[in-house]
Amino acid sequence: MWEPILNLNNDKTPVLMLAPMAGITDWPFRVLCRRQGADELVTEMISAMGLIQAPKSSRAYRQLLLTKPEEAPIIAQLFGNDPGYLARAAGQLSDTGIFSGIDLNVGCPAPKVTGSGSGAALMKDIPLSRLILAGMRKATSGRLSVKMRLGWDGDSRNYLDYALMCQDMGADRVCVHARTRTQQYSGKADWGAVAQVKRALRIPVVLNGDVFTPQDAVRALDETGADGLAVGRGALGNPWLFGRIKRVLAGLPDSMPSPEEITDMALIHLQLMARFKGDARAVIEMRKHLSWYLRGSPGAAQARTRINTAGSLSELEGILRGHLLAQTSG
Ligand SMILES: Cc1cc2nc3c(=O)[nH]c(=O)nc-3n(C[C@H](O)[C@H](O)[C@H](O)COP(=O)(O)O)c2cc1C
Repeated sequence: MWEPILNLNNDKTPVLMLAPMAGITDWPFRVLCRRQGADELVTEMISAMGLIQAPKSSRAYRQLLLTKPEEAPIIAQLFGNDPGYLARAAGQLSDTGIFSGIDLNVGCPAPKVTGSGSGAALMKDIPLSRLILAGMRKATSGRLSVKMRLGWDGDSRNYLDYALMCQDMGADRVCVHARTRTQQYSGKADWGAVAQVKRALRIPVVLNGDVFTPQDAVRALDETGADGLAVGRGALGNPWLFGRIKRVLAGLPDSMPSPEEITDMALIHLQLMARFKGDARAVIEMRKHLSWYLRGSPGAAQARTRINTAGSLSELEGILRGHLLAQTSG
């Protein structure tokens, strides 16, 4: 069974995960979420076929797989639809000894992924999914999990059958993003469906979808009995959300980060990204993150315009410090 690994009270508090997000959950962002209380981290999705076929020197795969010691326990997420490649990739990543588990992506709605039968398209093919999980289960003695949706569309919400199949095939945990593929990220996540999965399975069930505040987290756990939560968009520019959820679950008052803390976090994120990708790339990659950090603060729109045209790290740092000064002076 998949027990929560870290928690506040050393009891069975729900596991809080950072949901995988391609293009976002690289090691700099994951490290910041871990420091703020995320119990488990997951890599961005990695193509099983790409990983097996990539030359050892492939920079793209080296970067996707780069982790820091403070990230443990970290899970590697694979996508694909070929049982052979998925089993080999699962075995290869387990053998590194770096990852505490391997996760299969059965949720990605992007046409370039589903078009080849991967991601959420696997929900339409239970026999193939069985084969895939059998191979992955054999290839890794570590934890195996599945991140799934409710089904392909409103007419094929087969989440109970799919989740039970995952359990039968030896998965140690499922994480359910409570939407169908055709919903993508729109509409409201159907937490009631997660409650049904939780009641039907013996293995732990993690809820995913629409947890943006500690109050959402409390409600999601109450309404579903889930063993944990995976937080995605709620953590963007907001790694504090993990600590805030833990405080509120422990009966402590919620506390919001101050403008100084937000600026410090953004500056640290910028430095970590520069270490990871080099200064020039960091300036570009950090545009979205910095906009998220500034969201809701007075003058954010003007600062965002300047961020999007800044050409150097020092220019970005100046914009962030200036934005803080404008908020805190006068
Ligand atoms: C930009 C972006 C990238 C994502 N990439 C992945 C991914 O690589 N693997 C995956 O399983 N889910 C991915 N997701 C889905 C999230 O993990 C999560 O299921 C979804 O955002 C719903 O959770 P939320 O309401 O907490 O954001 C991605 C979502 C976003 C917004």
